[in-house]
Amino acid sequence: MPRRIIIFDTTLRDGEQCPGASLEVHEKLEIARQLARLGVDVIEGGFPFASPGDAKAVRQIAQTVKGPTICALARSLAGDIDAAAQALAPAANRRIHVFLATSPIHMKYKLRKAEDEILRQAVWAVKYAKKHCRDVEFSPEDASRTKPEFLFEVLEAVITAGATTVNIPDTVGFAIPEEFGRLIAAIKAKVPNIERARVSVHCHNDLGLAVPNSLSAVKNGADQVECTVNGIGERAGNASLEEIVMSLKIRRDFFNAQAGVDTTQIAKTSRLVSALTGIVVQPNKAIVGDNAFAHESGIHQDGILKHHKTYEIMRPQMVGLRESKLVLGKLSGRHAFAERLKALGFRLSTEELDRAFARFKGLADKKKEVFDDDLIAIVEEELPTVPELYKLTYVHTSSGSETVPTATIRLTTAGKTIEDAACGDGPVDACYKTIDRITGFSPELVDYSLRAVTGGTDALGEVTVKLRHKQTEVTGRGTSTDIIEASAKAYVNAINRLVASSRRPDIRRGRRSLTP
Ligand code: KIV
Ligand code: ZN
Repeated sequence: MPRRIIIFDTTLRDGEQCPGASLEVHEKLEIARQLARLGVDVIEGGFPFASPGDAKAVRQIAQTVKGPTICALARSLAGDIDAAAQALAPAANRRIHVFLATSPIHMKYKLRKAEDEILRQAVWAVKYAKKHCRDVEFSPEDASRTKPEFLFEVLEAVITAGATTVNIPDTVGFAIPEEFGRLIAAIKAKVPNIERARVSVHCHNDLGLAVPNSLSAVKNGADQVECTVNGIGERAGNASLEEIVMSLKIRRDFFNAQAGVDTTQIAKTSRLVSALTGIVVQPNKAIVGDNAFAHESGIHQDGILKHHKTYEIMRPQMVGLRESKLVLGKLSGRHAFAERLKALGFRLSTEELDRAFARFKGLADKKKEVFDDDLIAIVEEELPTVPELYKLTYVHTSSGSETVPTATIRLTTAGKTIEDAACGDGPVDACYKTIDRITGFSPELVDYSLRAVTGGTDALGEVTVKLRHKQTEVTGRGTSTDIIEASAKAYVNAINRLVASSRRPDIRRGRRSLTP
């Protein structure tokens, strides 16, 4: 039976100490709610004595977020502990986290205190916090640079004083995985009352080792890992939550341990934290970077298409993403190219595909990434022109904050002009509803994108729409300096493709014949 590892999330406390990241109270609350959905065990909401904003945020989280234990940080001082206790009061499950530095360098220069004074203050702080709260965590700050014998003595004393969790911080990211694992094993072996408390670790990333150190600690018996979403935090950051959780999940065989987190919430949580803190996730960041599930090399793409396990140790769906990305560039092969065209709704003969692939390779040599729009342009030149069964001759819309959006559309078909009007959720929606009324189609709008082809406010706008009707998907494009007109043109162009694919099997967009 795998050991259950407690995930203590400190995104809102240590994570917010990341240079440039600052969160409003309501933003902290939104993140805390998402952390609860993610299923973390403990949320460290802030350091209430340090700022009124933190005190307010911890209190609101304590009032409203159900599920996880809510924790607040305090120095080993009465004022800090009182502020933490007050902010946490509404929480059903609460924890006060007190800390005091124990390394020679911190004791001498920062605190100007001797070992016996530190020992007394730590014990006093735990006992004082215990008066407010059953669940008290103690952190000997800079533990990894603390003399081991003194560290063991402090841990034994705070556990006797009532600490329920003892957290071992690698405050300055100095530890090396093997050595940090040995420290945890030594704590487990040498602190006589260690069984009465949980052992936690809290690693910083100054040498890029926060995650390996945390995992080495787990392997050596740590029960709790402190971490942050996207690994944000002071200086180079903290251990990244998603890397810890997914390492435990993917390598359960090695760790024989698991977290109680719903991993499908990881991508959403990462995006939320990045959007609200303004800290961009590097593209090659493990698990949540843009490229974490993107494959560029042709050999890899071919492998993935044959069996995803060839180049993926986890599925993107496990972390809440829809699918892996096959980036089309100069290294991509024919297999990935053909699959992408299929996904875009094109069916090409072998000769058409050969010609289109040769043109794609030429373009990829000049361009780093080839996008769907480029592919559509390439393929359209290889395919027979779509007959213009419906032609847009007039479009008029009215919309505004006090007006129901309405569109009047005129289409000509087979020498006849048909005019109709409809309302919608916006002017574009109104146009599409009107075109549906005239043509008798009511396809699903799968995708809509608008881009400026040229610069300036008079830019030519190009709209691309993807429509799905029964089993068939088609793409349509339209350009105009008026984006409503471009939108209507794109839609009519796509409808013409639907009609063409139902009538003419030689135009191989779509997979089946269809009727409106
Ligand atoms: O890094 C650290 O030592 C801390 C403590 C307060 C746990 O953040
Ligand atoms: Zn820290």
